[in-house]
Amino acid sequence: MRQQLDDLLSAASERLAAARNVADVEDLRVEFLGRKGKLTGILKGLGRLSPAERPLAGKLTNEVKETLTGKFDEYRQRLATASRAADLAAGAVDVTLPGRRAFGGHTHPVTTVIGDITDIFVRLGFAVARGPEVELDYYNFEALNIPADHPARQMQDTFYIADDVVLRTHTSPVQVRVMEKQPPPVAVIVPGKVYRCDSDLTHTPMFHQVEGLLVDDNVTFADLKGVLSTFLHEFFSPEIGVRFRPSYFPFTEPSAEVDIACVICGGRGCRVCSETGWLEVLGCGMVDPAVYGFVGYDPEKVTGFAFGMGVERLAMLRYGIDDLRLFFANDLRFLEQF
Ligand code: FA5
Ligand code: MG
Repeated sequence: MRQQLDDLLSAASERLAAARNVADVEDLRVEFLGRKGKLTGILKGLGRLSPAERPLAGKLTNEVKETLTGKFDEYRQRLATASRAADLAAGAVDVTLPGRRAFGGHTHPVTTVIGDITDIFVRLGFAVARGPEVELDYYNFEALNIPADHPARQMQDTFYIADDVVLRTHTSPVQVRVMEKQPPPVAVIVPGKVYRCDSDLTHTPMFHQVEGLLVDDNVTFADLKGVLSTFLHEFFSPEIGVRFRPSYFPFTEPSAEVDIACVICGGRGCRVCSETGWLEVLGCGMVDPAVYGFVGYDPEKVTGFAFGMGVERLAMLRYGIDDLRLFFANDLRFLEQF
């Protein structure tokens, strides 16, 4: 029996020395000290010994058990410490390495331009209004003096949601919504998204406009010219070429379009300005009396002007960008330049 115990002890010691991790140690513990382990097997032999031999054999067995338990604990601890050290070494952070710079975002150039336009008009005394992008035919066309059979409906390629619901093709419907809600005087601008089935160098299916509306006693075309010239010279520079060109809108009379000297070619003519040297940035005019009829204003008492400008056009001209579609491609190489 003593021999058996000695063999067990040396076998366990040898195997333990080869254990690589805590799990190996636990497997060995079960194999040697577990309820069905090797030591238990030896203990069962105690029954075959004479009563005189039993106390000594029992004592020896207990000593071996204690020795082994101690060894297992020792190995378990040693291997646990080693594995923790290995984990720490693997995940070590070199605090002396230079850091990676956090990527700082900034506003989109279109957003910046809308903010700048708004600032100028707010300083001139205009308030900011908003309206829905999904709009009733009534506000987008009808109440702007564009009846169903009016040829002007073809001036703007409309996205229809239903027979009488459209994606607004301009911000002008908000003129009507504002006047419906408040009596004159009115001085508002309306920044927002508009939609048209249109796409080339200077047109995208979604773009931004800023509408303007000023209605009061004795508002004249001179006021319109003064406000818009002031705005354009502030937005670009006091030197920029600006021209008012007669035009037509069903909701203004008389009407005009305003062009800016092409900043891409300096007015010599290029593909951006279609070789004209000028780029249209806004439409405007004196509010047509017919529109006042839809909102209950008395056209004998008030007059006013309205305008609608293309935000991307203004941004293109300010930053010298030759393709409007770049604004919406979301290429960081483009956006990071602003
Ligand atoms: C209008 O939308 C009128 N509602 C403007 C107006 C308002 C006139 C109030 C009178 C009184 P127009 O379709 O011309 O007009 O568009 C106005 C401006 O939006 C244009 O001058 C141009 O700068 C811009 N624009 C028009 N279509 C596009 C497009 N597809 N992509 C980008 N900008 C556009
Ligand atoms: Mg136009």
